[in-house]
Amino acid sequence: MGTKIKMMSAAVLTSGLLLSGAATAAGASADALGYTCAGCHGFNGSSRGPATPHLASASQEYVVEMMTGYKDGSIASTIMGRIAKGYSDEQFALMGEFFAKQKLTKPKQEFDAKLAKKGAKLHDKYCEKCHAEGGSSAEDDSGILAGQWVPYLKYTFADYHGDGRKMGKKMKKKMKKMNKKEGDAGIEALLNFYAEAK
Ligand code: HEC
Ligand code: HEC
Repeated sequence: MGTKIKMMSAAVLTSGLLLSGAATAAGASADALGYTCAGCHGFNGSSRGPATPHLASASQEYVVEMMTGYKDGSIASTIMGRIAKGYSDEQFALMGEFFAKQKLTKPKQEFDAKLAKKGAKLHDKYCEKCHAEGGSSAEDDSGILAGQWVPYLKYTFADYHGDGRKMGKKMKKKMKKMNKKEGDAGIEALLNFYAEAK
């Protein structure tokens, strides 16, 4: 009996080792790439600085799209354009894989409860369709709004309304509709809603 079990466990052990070896080799490069972003975006993609967006739980496609846009200059940036130029499409995909797997730790941010309530309604009406679960879900490859740093979101809205970043056609339509009805107060209410997210 002894030898049989020994042989079996040796076989199990070997295949286990092979499997975990392969997993580490594939995982290590995604992890290693992800960690090069840690200084600004935090070790697990939850950034500490309010001008630097969280990446945790954003979809792989979203990260790749942003990196590609930064690299080719179609999305305005202060820093990311320079950083993105140093990497390949394959590396963008690995970075996206890493950050999509991380769980976002939402920071405590100040907000006005009344405005947040109004923002929740506006979000449901104009934004929820592509920013599901109150802007927490990344499934539409639309980034993370709930718990995202408000200063970063403010820059982003300014970029969208200037020529720093292009909105998709459908989002542009909704945003225009909301702006027409609510003006800047609508954006302000939405920011309070995203800041409230727990
Ligand atoms: C020196 C600080 C710094 C480093 C290092 C850095 N980033 Fe950034 N990142 C920023 C800032 C700041 C922004 C906002 C855009 C800008 O102004 O450049 C940003 C924006 C982004 C965004 C857009 C997020 C969103 O919600 O729209 C992505 C994606 C991103 N970075 C990925 C990365 C990846 C991947 C790395 C590692 C290879 C990385 N960043 C390294 C500072 C940094
Ligand atoms: C038809 C789908 C759609 C609708 C509706 C929509 N969005 Fe978006 N949104 C997207 C997509 C896709 C992206 C990511 C790519 C891009 O920049 O276009 C995005 C990105 C964003 C970003 C940038 C996130 C980041 O991390 O940088 C913000 C902010 C945003 N949307 C706010 C809103 C708000 C506020 C509304 C409602 C007034 C809204 N969106 C409605 C599809 C949509």
